[in-house]
Amino acid sequence: MPHWDPSSWTTKAALQQPAYEDPDQLQSVVATLANRPPLVTSWEVERLKSQLALASQGGAFLLQGGDCNESFDACQAGPIEKKLKVLLQMSLVLVYGMHKPVIRVGRIAGQYAKPRSNDTETRDGVTLPSYRGDCVNRSPFTPEDRKTRPELLLGAYDRSAQTLNYLRALTEGGFADINHPENWELDFVSQSARSEEYHQMVRGIGDSLRFIDTIGGVTRADLSRVDFYTSHEALLLPYEQALTRRAISRDGWYNLGTHYPWIGDRTRDIHGAHVEYFRGIRNPIGIKIGPTATADGVVALLDTLNPDREIGRITLICRFGASKIGDSLPPLIQAVEASRHPVLWSIDPMHGNTVTTDGGIKTRHFDRILDEVRDSFTIHASHGTIVGGIHLELTGNNVTECVGGTGGIQSSDLGRAYESNVDPRLNYEQAMEIAFLIAGRAREAT
Ligand code: PEP
Ligand code: CO
Repeated sequence: MPHWDPSSWTTKAALQQPAYEDPDQLQSVVATLANRPPLVTSWEVERLKSQLALASQGGAFLLQGGDCNESFDACQAGPIEKKLKVLLQMSLVLVYGMHKPVIRVGRIAGQYAKPRSNDTETRDGVTLPSYRGDCVNRSPFTPEDRKTRPELLLGAYDRSAQTLNYLRALTEGGFADINHPENWELDFVSQSARSEEYHQMVRGIGDSLRFIDTIGGVTRADLSRVDFYTSHEALLLPYEQALTRRAISRDGWYNLGTHYPWIGDRTRDIHGAHVEYFRGIRNPIGIKIGPTATADGVVALLDTLNPDREIGRITLICRFGASKIGDSLPPLIQAVEASRHPVLWSIDPMHGNTVTTDGGIKTRHFDRILDEVRDSFTIHASHGTIVGGIHLELTGNNVTECVGGTGGIQSSDLGRAYESNVDPRLNYEQAMEIAFLIAGRAREAT
């Protein structure tokens, strides 16, 4: 591999980076961060990679989900628990329906930087820098809030550590115990259309566990914990560089600020700084692929980012949109197959389906999201390739951000509980609906 170190990206053009007024202050924050302990270990990262390798071959399924944009304010017990609850419930539906292990990954504990279409935002004739996520500036539309502040990087590290600490305690300490799915109930679930189906399934699993217990098979301790991994878009390169470390007991560099970083659709230029950064880390990585990607371009990215063709290294997170997937995905599958690069194909049915209402609110139609999921399964089936995962923006809060679904959210409901300050997320019911859809597809296919 041509020379690489964690700062090599600085020799290339880095898109979507905020302008810091005082580069010395930024450097001093980066130096502080570089001395902080890592948040994850290379052992965990490698274990995830081997599970993703299995998923790429059909032996497991990746469930990746969480906020579009984590906020510092939401680093609290309640929102963290709720997100974990939704992901645990969805994974139970998927395991039960697909008969395969589910790899649970949150867009969590580090998802604090956002790419934006414009550097500035204008409201009522006033123009200010765009909000770029809580690790860069703040969302309220005032000059003070929109100022880029390097110390927010330390705030992001601290919140990531606190979030991850709580997630580890919950997933290791009995909360996720499959013998006690009541731990993951959400208050408003009984009103949900899928509630009865879910609870019936949970009762069935309870019966099976008691049966296994009586004949003596699996010990209850085996089922009292789950693996849970973190991911975020590695967008803000000074932060990612500071969390990039040499592994303790193996060769190479790892991003130890998260298990599973991904490259955004807007920053995957093969000559750009992000690809340069990702080239040198050993983590499994995601690449967001949108309608502007060409088949040759994707294969070139695979050549650069996975020259050794390591299985589990690359996840292609396809986010074309329901109206474009039919034209965009087949040539890509054909080119990747012809290149013989091993990849895990995942679906992000969110980012290609964002629309703005007449009232100027960003939303997504649930039916278009379902269409993209269904089409993705159909297209892969016709090519003999495997959908190995799904990537969703969701929350455990009972929000009204995406329209449609069994809860019948209309555009007029969007104002009622719209909490996201970037992209609209699925609420609990909508997220569960997708889990049931995928589980049903898997049943039909077998
Ligand atoms: C995101 O995942 O929030 C995002 C910005 O996605 P994309 O890079 O696919 O547009
Ligand atoms: Co988003």
